[in-house]
Amino acid sequence: MDWQWFRTQLLTWYGEYGRDLPWRPTADPYAVLVSEFMLQQTQVMTVIPYYQRWLKQLPTLADCAQAQRQDIFKLWEGLGYYRRAEYLHQTCQMIMYNYGGNIPQELAILITLPGIGRTTAGGILSHAFNLPLPILDGNVQRVLSRLFALTTPPNRNQKQLWHYSQALLDPDQPGRFNQALMDVGAGVCLPKVPHCGRCPWQNGCMGEQTQQQHTLPVREPA
Ligand code: ADE
Repeated sequence: MDWQWFRTQLLTWYGEYGRDLPWRPTADPYAVLVSEFMLQQTQVMTVIPYYQRWLKQLPTLADCAQAQRQDIFKLWEGLGYYRRAEYLHQTCQMIMYNYGGNIPQELAILITLPGIGRTTAGGILSHAFNLPLPILDGNVQRVLSRLFALTTPPNRNQKQLWHYSQALLDPDQPGRFNQALMDVGAGVCLPKVPHCGRCPWQNGCMGEQTQQQHTLPVREPA
């Protein structure tokens, strides 16, 4: 597999068509943490105003750790899945009191914190510290299933999907790569209508070459 071709195609495309999202230019790991918690189950456009308001009210990790529970919930109100707010609050407190206020840069440690799974951890570490860690949310599972024509349902194929996400990742620009991969999932390789003509990977997509772009990923029979 010519991984470098996939990386170059994606990153060139991203330079031209990547979304301009408020957390992308930031180098502040705390801001990245907040963005990844909010984006776990909520669409980008909904998250944007919440993200901006949160950082205005609680600009540092210490501010979040010390905030009152009711203020945390007030800032989260309307975003849904309120357990995330509680987890974010607890995670900031644990980072403050157990890790000296610095977000741990090790995957194995980060995933022990409340509300942080492997994808959120990968999103944080690749974006905030440029560490070569992959992500695998629903969008990425769909993109990879099509790109490599994976015919096992994703819920039974996590190991292979993580393997592809890691293999594909650009080790030199993992942060940019993961953001770009999410943009392909959110704007091009859509669930019902894949826009293959706009895809940076069209010429290398095994799903499209075998006319399976509409049928992949395979859903587990009920
Ligand atoms: N979903 C999860 N993390 C994201 C990010 N950083 N940008 C866009 N969508 C996301």
